[in-house]
Amino acid sequence: MANKIRFLTGITTSGTPHLGNYVGSVRHSVRFSLRPDVESYYFLADYHALIKVDQPERIPRSTLEIAASWLACGLDPERVTFYRQSDIVEIPELTWLLTCVTGKGMLNRAHAYKAASDKNTARGDDPDADVSAGLFMYPVLMGADILLFNAHKVPVGRDQVQHIEMARDMAQRFNHLYGEHFTLPEAEIDEAVATLPGLDGRKMSKSYDNTIPLFAPRGQLQKLIAGIVTDSRAPGEPKETEGSALFQIYQAFADAGETEALRKSYAKGIGWGDAKQVLFERIDREVAPLRERYEALMAHPAEIERILLAGADKARALSRPFMTRLREAVGLRRLDASASGSSTAKTTRQQRASFKQYKDSDGMFYFKFLDADGNQLLQSRGFESPRDAGQAIARLRQQPGSALTELAAKLETLDAEGMRLATGALEALAADTTAGDK
Ligand code: TRP
Repeated sequence: MANKIRFLTGITTSGTPHLGNYVGSVRHSVRFSLRPDVESYYFLADYHALIKVDQPERIPRSTLEIAASWLACGLDPERVTFYRQSDIVEIPELTWLLTCVTGKGMLNRAHAYKAASDKNTARGDDPDADVSAGLFMYPVLMGADILLFNAHKVPVGRDQVQHIEMARDMAQRFNHLYGEHFTLPEAEIDEAVATLPGLDGRKMSKSYDNTIPLFAPRGQLQKLIAGIVTDSRAPGEPKETEGSALFQIYQAFADAGETEALRKSYAKGIGWGDAKQVLFERIDREVAPLRERYEALMAHPAEIERILLAGADKARALSRPFMTRLREAVGLRRLDASASGSSTAKTTRQQRASFKQYKDSDGMFYFKFLDADGNQLLQSRGFESPRDAGQAIARLRQQPGSALTELAAKLETLDAEGMRLATGALEALAADTTAGDK
């Protein structure tokens, strides 16, 4: 497959992962990341955490717990791009560019901000009492997360769909003003299990204090499950599955056959204590092996730090050149001759970089991109046909920045410096070609 679908997802580092996160996000995302046609970006949204957390020590704690959880759940940092938001300086930089194309009116309608201001109004307070500009700007920061990596799909819970729509809106507006730079992202919701009820039957959420930590030790897991609300029907009385939090949680872990079996037990009047035991055993069966890996990872924070820094390098190899291009697009440009002005076009015409296409002994079609001295800047992977290779070259010539991102899977991996050199040469070549056309 020439172009992979890019999935991107972030988790705010403001708490301990719970079963709701696992069922609604982590499990789904990790499963997707294993698909061969998917390229995934996972990050720890610590800038977002600053909006709600004012105890500094909680942020690295939560970052560690969430990173260890995702790794324990099977995320492979070699295969995906796994990073910490605050290691990517291009994210706040892009946030500002997007801020300037985002309507304030749209942000007024964002659910999180609206909920806060409506609550104030209902209390008779000033609508903006205790509302930080960070909360107000939340969707723009999130838009930058998504658009910086040109994600196609963003797996999120229903409550986040509006944010993805806003990111689309920002991308459209930016593209309209400055040219086609951004992919328009779409929300991806797993319809089967989008949200999980918590201990009290409301959506499992830290803000309701009704969560079950994903990696609670076995004994604690059992105790918490014993505390899930039920009705007062006695053993022997038939029970409703409809509206039963216990049943819904079970369903999120069990397969169709297991779910049917519990449905029958409900009808036959299983006692709540027994039903809770069934649920506990089912969850523990899935979680126990992951919990063991989690505990091993938590014991080695330096190793997790190393993984995150390597992930940031990988991410910035894309975001750095892309940001260079976006700065240029909006008019944040250098004033000297080395910018893409006409004088550069003249010098580069004499010493232009070039593409070399060839067929290799494996029968596949390849290209290299070489600088004027014959040094290799890019090496493609194999294409099925010369036409496919030619199209990739055309993309690289026309839209260097986005093509480098889109074609990442079809190119040998570059380090950050290699990426910078290749981007520079492609941009010079594009400027040269445009100048030559005149
Ligand atoms: N707002 C998301 C949440 O609270 C976290 C997040 C931040 C995110 N940036 C993102 C999710 C970008 C997806 C894409 O769950």
